[in-house]
Amino acid sequence: MKTLIKNIKKLVQTEETPKKKIAGKEMANINSIENAFLFVKNERIIDFGIMNNLDAEITVDNTYDATGKMVYPSFCDSHTHIVYAGSREIEYSDKIRGLSYEEIAKRGGGILNSAKLLHSTSEDQLYKQAQKRILEVIKQGTGALEIKSGYGLNTQDELKMLRVIKRLKSTMPIEIKSTFLGAHSIPTEYRGKQTQYVDLVINEMIPVVAAEQLADYIDVFCDKGFFTIEDTDRILNAGMKYGLRAKIHANELDFSGGVQVGVKYNALSVDHLEFIGNKEIESLLNSETMPTVLPGAAFFLGMQFSPVRKMIDAGLPVALASDFNPGSSPSGNMKLISSMGCINYKMLPEEVINATTINTAYAMGISNSHGSIAKGKFANFFITKPIPSIEFFPYAFGSDLIDKVFIKGKIID
Ligand code: NIG
Ligand code: FE
Repeated sequence: MKTLIKNIKKLVQTEETPKKKIAGKEMANINSIENAFLFVKNERIIDFGIMNNLDAEITVDNTYDATGKMVYPSFCDSHTHIVYAGSREIEYSDKIRGLSYEEIAKRGGGILNSAKLLHSTSEDQLYKQAQKRILEVIKQGTGALEIKSGYGLNTQDELKMLRVIKRLKSTMPIEIKSTFLGAHSIPTEYRGKQTQYVDLVINEMIPVVAAEQLADYIDVFCDKGFFTIEDTDRILNAGMKYGLRAKIHANELDFSGGVQVGVKYNALSVDHLEFIGNKEIESLLNSETMPTVLPGAAFFLGMQFSPVRKMIDAGLPVALASDFNPGSSPSGNMKLISSMGCINYKMLPEEVINATTINTAYAMGISNSHGSIAKGKFANFFITKPIPSIEFFPYAFGSDLIDKVFIKGKIID
């Protein structure tokens, strides 16, 4: 199947020599081609360029005329908890009345509420709920997703979540990476016995997760009131022995030391990062770890914003992901995340494009096949409605500007 998109007003983020990630000042640069064509064969991008260079003899199965419209590479969303049961809008009201995320968690709400509900929800129901959310975010421009477990908090229920993710991997059109997050919260029955729960994660959960090949990565919520640096160190060390690379929750609620322990284990990413100082920046500068900021969670919880400008100005790459989850970010809309990047973090529209595509692709280990318009990469992109400029896309924060979505060369209806 050959598809041609022609007369594209602007083909955004083209790469001749693909990069794995983009850091520092370079984040403000985006290559794009005006009056362009894009040629797709089966699942991959075969060619692109200016319309004048389009081979007049070319034979195709489908042609789309994109006059006045732009083409962007699909978003990669490298941090989500999109498999969960039900919703938690009850806490939303508690938050509005003034309770903090930590206070809600301490009362047995928060993650533990989702765990209770997940326990009584069948695997099939969980699958159906997640499938609906995934189809929604695909229409919003997302072409790859990382999904975490972490609402099981016992071996059976963690496995249940991971099996749902495995099924989604084989049925959804987009690339999905799976992360084991057994250490998301301390279950009620282990209150005051945190080390024993960490032992369970290490001795019972990790070995079965690895044996059944249910996870690509391992995560720990390393923060004040949740798991300590020592717990995190032990869990990441155990995961490493089974080939599970770390992607961790760090420095959301305090200077938890999470960044440094993540870097110590060569984490693929450290995520949240509201509390970042010079030490954390220094440690990230000497690493292969992608600093990932989750604007939806900071917005929803009314947290202080991560010092993204400081990180980029220091030469670091930054990725922006949705954190789609029922407690702190009940949305996976990456266009909205892009707008938050600009407004709340003072990122330029070009920086936001790099942060939501190639850098998030890196943060889920797929930047060789996703995250930009490059020959040989998957044909994952969206055609916008007619828009005047790149800036307009995050500026019009409430508008749906996506006209058509292509995943692996196929249009999604
Ligand atoms: O990334 N910070 C920890 N975990 C999730 C929230 C999960 C929840 O509240 O359900 C997050 O924000
Ligand atoms: Fe998260």
